[in-house]
Amino acid sequence: MCGIVGYIGGRPALPILLDGLRRLEYRGYDSVGVAVMDSDRCAPWIVKTRGRVKDLEEKLAALRLDHGRGYRDGHCRERRDGTGTAGIGHTRWATHGNPSDVNSHPHTDCTGRIIVVHNGIIENFLPLRELLIATGHTFRSETDTEVIPHLLETYYYRQGQSDPALDLVEAVRKVALQLQGAYALVVMGEEEPDHLVAVRKASPLVIGLGRGENFVASDIPALLPYTRRVLVAEDGELAVISRDGVRLERLADRQPVEREPFEVTWDPGRAEKGGYAHFMLKEIHEQPRALRDTLRGRISTDGGRVLFNELLPPVLTPEVLRELRRIAIVACGTAAHAGLVGKYMIERLAGIPVDWDIASEYRYRHPFVDHRTLFVAVSQSGETIDTLAALREAKARGAQTLTITNVVGSTLARESDWALYTWAGPEIAVASTKAYTAQVEVLALFALWLRQELGGRVDMPPPMKTPGEDDEPARVIAAVQALPEQVEAVLKKEALVADVARRLAAHDDVFFIGRNLDYAIAMEGQLKLKEISYIHAEAYPAGELKHGTLALISEGVPVVAVVTQEALREKTISNIQEVRARGAHVIGLVLEGDTETARHCHEVFYLPRTVRWLTPVLAAVPLQLLAYYAAVARGHDVDKPRNLAKSVTVE
Ligand code: M6R
Repeated sequence: MCGIVGYIGGRPALPILLDGLRRLEYRGYDSVGVAVMDSDRCAPWIVKTRGRVKDLEEKLAALRLDHGRGYRDGHCRERRDGTGTAGIGHTRWATHGNPSDVNSHPHTDCTGRIIVVHNGIIENFLPLRELLIATGHTFRSETDTEVIPHLLETYYYRQGQSDPALDLVEAVRKVALQLQGAYALVVMGEEEPDHLVAVRKASPLVIGLGRGENFVASDIPALLPYTRRVLVAEDGELAVISRDGVRLERLADRQPVEREPFEVTWDPGRAEKGGYAHFMLKEIHEQPRALRDTLRGRISTDGGRVLFNELLPPVLTPEVLRELRRIAIVACGTAAHAGLVGKYMIERLAGIPVDWDIASEYRYRHPFVDHRTLFVAVSQSGETIDTLAALREAKARGAQTLTITNVVGSTLARESDWALYTWAGPEIAVASTKAYTAQVEVLALFALWLRQELGGRVDMPPPMKTPGEDDEPARVIAAVQALPEQVEAVLKKEALVADVARRLAAHDDVFFIGRNLDYAIAMEGQLKLKEISYIHAEAYPAGELKHGTLALISEGVPVVAVVTQEALREKTISNIQEVRARGAHVIGLVLEGDTETARHCHEVFYLPRTVRWLTPVLAAVPLQLLAYYAAVARGHDVDKPRNLAKSVTVE
């Protein structure tokens, strides 16, 4: 998804912008651009291109004059000295208009003097564009963003006698109030070289504070080499960023906002590859640590209770909990797959009915939600716009809201009544790995916590009240504590998975089957495989195959059968036999010692035994490795798969 970097200070801006943009590459993008305001105060110059930061660097090198001291570009009216100390940069993920040089940001007004980078979508751009064209503005791109500099131009340069022209801050305020949709904007004006103006609505924006220099970005990693003192702008706030300070105020009424900056304590090295070939592989290997960090301090010393200090009264009080009638778990992609595991766990362990929805669909079914509903958003980034929209819908209907996320201070965390964090550390690869296993871990703890706080209330029909061994809280807690070591054991068998993956890479279609929790695991396995290896992969409830999909099974088609739920083993074995009879090559994911299932598979990967609720954590690891090595074998850009972005901030 798009990324923003801005700098104003005493150093040349260009290297800082390029460095920041490189640090945002993980978000996924298709084009990139920078604008720098030269120190001689002549017009800012802009260089932008379809492609990656390295393509921009090549373009800059080709434009370079005088041994690197100057640049020449189509947008510039004259030669520039290239030493400007203020600038803005952007990585674009196309929404309106193809990825192309001209659609890349920054965008300018007709004069080229007002320059804008934007993340998000301007929903009312069409009528604005028509109006602007009718009043003589010339548009260069197909983007929604371009209406912004032209609107700014109207207020900054074109006001009549009765309506005096506004300064840049006031023009930005006026324009922002006209925009519908989501945006984080940073604006630079040739006539006001001493500040950048930024504003946000539903799209992240952070300000980095330095000495004699300040920074702005869509994401903290872009700032970390330069400062750890960070201010998070909230929705509806405007920031004026100059060399000597930052002024934050409310967009609507100009009221100053006093907010303490916070210190980023995490290690920027954690956002680097640390010797691994790809971020994804590094993050797969970080799972034992991520699980340990997420668990830290959340189990009582006697091992008998789950401690969620974040949810202690007066937050989720016993009264609120007793009133609860249902829980709604809503998320996208991998987070939704973790959420589905959470549904099964909460229903069985805490006895509360749980609706599970894909966030982008949630609003359209007019869900039954009121104050007795606890809406639980699950999101690694905490910024996924579909999940955010679903949360806002649930809040509007009176729900209590909780977000499970990996990013402190993210929009979902801030807009929810309560937040529970996964402490997986920054996840850079587009394919989510350590966030998923940490989400399942937190959901397991949350299910146990609900049961404990409700005093074991179980509203389920009588036959389901009989708990199985795996439903005993003490047993589940012990199993959660054992997970990091078990994941380490699974990781030791990486070479086995890599071998299977290299053979799998030769196929065009792969099916994943399983029942109940194994189906939830299958869904995660197929998503991982398709998103980075581009192999067509589908997950099916094993019993559903014969209702249509079985027609696609032919000689040699790989079928990954997930069989970790003992009670369902016999039934899934029947489904394995069905696909084998049609020529499928079956790769089984089974529990240690399950020779019975293994007998029916062509190849088998054994998983350590745990309670049935937690097999999704252990099974996810070989499935992540399978996808990773298949993608590597196919020669793909594993960390930045085509067409995808890390943080999906458009609906
Ligand atoms: O940041 P979120 O967890 O809200 O993101 C949700 C999905 O976009 C994300 O899980 C996506 O499906 C991943 N690329 C899957 O690996």
